[in-house]
Amino acid sequence: MLWRIAEFEYKSDQDIYDAVKAIDWPRLFEVGRTLRVNVTAQKSPLKSLEFATLRIKDAVCDRFRDDLGRRPDVDRASPDVRVHAFFEGTHATLYLDTSGEPLFKRGWRQGAADAPLRENLAAGIVMLTGWKPDEPLLDPMCGGATLLVEAAAIARGRAPGAKRAFGFQKLLGFDAKAWEAITAGEQKQKQPEPHLYGSDTDPKALNAARRNLAEAGVERWVSLERVDILERSAPAPGGLMVANPPYGERMGSAEELAAFYPKLGDALKKKFAGWRCYFFTADLRLPKLIRLEPAARTPLWNGALECRLYEFKIVSGSHRR
Ligand SMILES: C[S@@+](CC[C@H](N)C(=O)[O-])C[C@H]1O[C@@H](n2cnc3c(N)ncnc32)[C@H](O)[C@@H]1O
Repeated sequence: MLWRIAEFEYKSDQDIYDAVKAIDWPRLFEVGRTLRVNVTAQKSPLKSLEFATLRIKDAVCDRFRDDLGRRPDVDRASPDVRVHAFFEGTHATLYLDTSGEPLFKRGWRQGAADAPLRENLAAGIVMLTGWKPDEPLLDPMCGGATLLVEAAAIARGRAPGAKRAFGFQKLLGFDAKAWEAITAGEQKQKQPEPHLYGSDTDPKALNAARRNLAEAGVERWVSLERVDILERSAPAPGGLMVANPPYGERMGSAEELAAFYPKLGDALKKKFAGWRCYFFTADLRLPKLIRLEPAARTPLWNGALECRLYEFKIVSGSHRR
């Protein structure tokens, strides 16, 4: 989320320098903070965006030096303060980034598993299933447990990103007391105790899942097991299954998956009668090859990749194609 702090017209790099230097930067952040400038442009007459970036950085630093005799350092990798400039024709807009790290990073990811979902996508998928926290939830291909962590956080009423830092905390005008009061207020409410289950065949993924669940502080509500989805039994007579099977792009070849889906359909019918099962995948062959009739198919994008969230209601003996 960007906070617009200035707009101006420009024709040259010097115009940019002058307009940026005119901003009262020492009122926006402390000189001890580190800085990074990012520039994007559309139909701009500027010859070099790199040079414009440098001039903006110089103008900010020169303003600090004029006012305070000191200037902030630049840190390109993990800056405290990010300044964004957007140039459009001869119009420029300057922003301060109040987010910092991208917002999909919710501050709990520790272990690296293959092909993790983004946290916000995982939370959105859980919400689309209509899951209620008193219903057992199983991810039988849990990988690094993104869906389980986000489901637990939803059940416990934890705000997304409650465990992470934000860019606005590094800006002057940030009210630390108000922030503490808001976050402490959220933790006091009484929340339900969800029953969550995860499994995977890959011990490395399960290790990552354990670390992520612990870091998110939700491990006590999640049972993990190393077992193949085709072998595992239902942890409760009814509930909600949500999984993100490999889909050929990053893991699992198209042939392997084509052989896997019919077996998956059989396993669901044998062991998960009474369950609502959701699969999130970019492999649009899944409903045909699993040989079950989807009750719903919701189009979703995973970055640039078109995906579907398929719902199958498993009732023994019916829904067979
Ligand atoms: C795309 S990843 C899931 C990523 C996960 N949603 C996350 O965000 O971290 C697919 C996972 O399915 C697991 N897997 C593949 N075949 C499996 C099977 N037959 N039974 C159980 N897990 C399986 C893989 O080990 C992998 O961790």
